Amino acid sequence: MAPVANKEDSPNLILAGFMGTGKSALGRQLAKRWRRRFYDTDELVEKLAGASIADVFAEHGEEHFRALERQVVESLLPPNGAVIACGGGLVVPPGMGELVRSKGIVVTLFASVDTILRRTAGNSRRPLLKGDDPEAKIRDLMKKREQAYMKAGIAVYTDGRSLQQLCVIVERVYEREARALLKSRPKSE
Ligand code: S3P
Repeated sequence: MAPVANKEDSPNLILAGFMGTGKSALGRQLAKRWRRRFYDTDELVEKLAGASIADVFAEHGEEHFRALERQVVESLLPPNGAVIACGGGLVVPPGMGELVRSKGIVVTLFASVDTILRRTAGNSRRPLLKGDDPEAKIRDLMKKREQAYMKAGIAVYTDGRSLQQLCVIVERVYEREARALLKSRPKSE
């Protein structure tokens, strides 16, 4: 059977999950493999705002940043055929999980606190982890967000798995979900 993943008009693959779970790295890799366009909502927010994420947080606060993320999902994502990596908090505010799910097949990546801590060290795009004790911040945010992440998409655990292995796992999940989705859609004449 021909892979659904390589078709331009197939549903978007959307990667959600906490900071440092590898959404962008995996998204780029899958987009290359499937010859699809890749979008990163953090980059789209920066374009929309004309400012860096750090500056948006510093000058306008988190609420404004979340409003920009919503705008990106509502208006700037293609309807299909793309691979999209979401900012770590994008699916958390009320209604955002549902909105994101209406735009494609959502896979949520998970990783241990140690892995997240290692991967997020010293990145200015992550103002929420700034300060003396990023580990405590990660634990606290993770606890608050866990339910939202579980609800947003199909969970994939990334610890101890290479990028290559994750590509295979997510591809399998995507293929299964995309086929089910296409089957459930009424056929157009
Ligand atoms: C955030 C995650 C970041 C970025 C912003 C807020 C969050 O994206 O959107 O700093 O609330 O978890 P990454 O997950 O790409 O680091």
